[in-house]
Amino acid sequence: MSRRTVLPCTTSADGRTATLGVMGGGQLGRMFVQSAQRMGYLTAVLDPDPTSPAGLISPYHIQADYLDEQGLAQLMQRSSAITTEFENVPAAALVTLGSQRPVAPSADAVAICQDRAMEKAHFLRSGVPHAPHAVITTPQDLRAVGDQLLPGILKTARLGYDGKGQLRVANRAELAAAWDELKQAACVLEALLPLEREISVVLARNAQGEVVTFPVQENVHRHGVLAVTQVPAPNVADGVQQQALTAARELAHSMSYVGVLCVEFFVLQDGSLLANEMAPRPHNSGHYTIDACDVSQFDLQVRTLAGLPLVQPTLLAPAVMLNLLGDIWFDEAGAARTPAWASVLALPGVHLHLYGKLSARPGRKMGHLTVTAASAKAAREVALQACALLGIPDF
Ligand SMILES: Nc1ncnc2c1ncn2[C@@H]1O[C@H](COP(=O)(O)OP(=O)(O)O)[C@@H](O)[C@H]1O
Ligand SMILES: [Mg+2]
Repeated sequence: MSRRTVLPCTTSADGRTATLGVMGGGQLGRMFVQSAQRMGYLTAVLDPDPTSPAGLISPYHIQADYLDEQGLAQLMQRSSAITTEFENVPAAALVTLGSQRPVAPSADAVAICQDRAMEKAHFLRSGVPHAPHAVITTPQDLRAVGDQLLPGILKTARLGYDGKGQLRVANRAELAAAWDELKQAACVLEALLPLEREISVVLARNAQGEVVTFPVQENVHRHGVLAVTQVPAPNVADGVQQQALTAARELAHSMSYVGVLCVEFFVLQDGSLLANEMAPRPHNSGHYTIDACDVSQFDLQVRTLAGLPLVQPTLLAPAVMLNLLGDIWFDEAGAARTPAWASVLALPGVHLHLYGKLSARPGRKMGHLTVTAASAKAAREVALQACALLGIPDF
């Protein structure tokens, strides 16, 4: 997107309404659609699943595979501009869409974020510290791995998410076995790092190079999946937070990024900061922005796509976000149950978001809950009560 074109919403004088398109119909697409609709846009979702969370609430839902030519043609015909809600959207599809419509983020930026080897190269190019690692694509690469990378985590270069496609390895024998288990796919081996904390930064950048950032988010992961986000980050020094904000901006600038970007970081036990990975879209750790900020990450996704002004977001209240995984729909014996919504909603400052998924499965992201309060302490206390009511571990 190089031109500054402001797309008409329903408030335009000539009565035209722009349609914003999104590749993917998961929960991130759904929350994008909700923001776009609030601003008067029509939306079109491309997702093969007839019951996708975003497809269910969008006036146009194109049920087609992400590389289906007719589906892509329909999405282009419907949409004035197109974004994506997941990084594994085939780059070829974005190239096709980008040939006829403004697409943000660009196929090039998404290609970097969807490949861990390219992502690490981008960290290096941008001068942003990151984990010691090796790229493994051949048996020679495997043999050449230095001892300093063990114990380590072997991650497939592509298509991993929520800890999937990752194996911890203690030694060379385990590394070789793990690479076989991952079908000798292109991988990145990272040294297993002594993590003190995990944090993330969500930003938005427009085609003019203006950047706005949300506050640093402190995240707790369980089994490789985000469980809790707290803002302001309670345990991270201001200097480290500044470093993270600066690094995230640099990473966006150095790939001429347009759209919403999330950068995940590790804070190590010695206080140093390393970039972990990037997501070319709004991020689970930014969901609190819907209820706790004056503009949300999804509002900014709409603004970057529609050529509307960016504003620096303000945090209106301290917030704690709890991910609601499908596990809480089952009791200890594995029998189905309905989580105690009424009790949770009786707590002050609770904002419940359910994504409209038709069935719960353990590990499936079904929704999230944001607690806002006058103080961080109060938000945490209410969030802990919600955890107890829902059977979610403390944080
Ligand atoms: N090099 C590492 N050292 C220690 N823990 C790690 C390392 N890499 C990943 N992890 C843990 O695994 C989680 C998921 O890894 P990540 O690379 O972010 O993949 P995903 O795409 O699945 O989110 C991280 O949030 C962190 O808790
Ligand atoms: Mg991650």
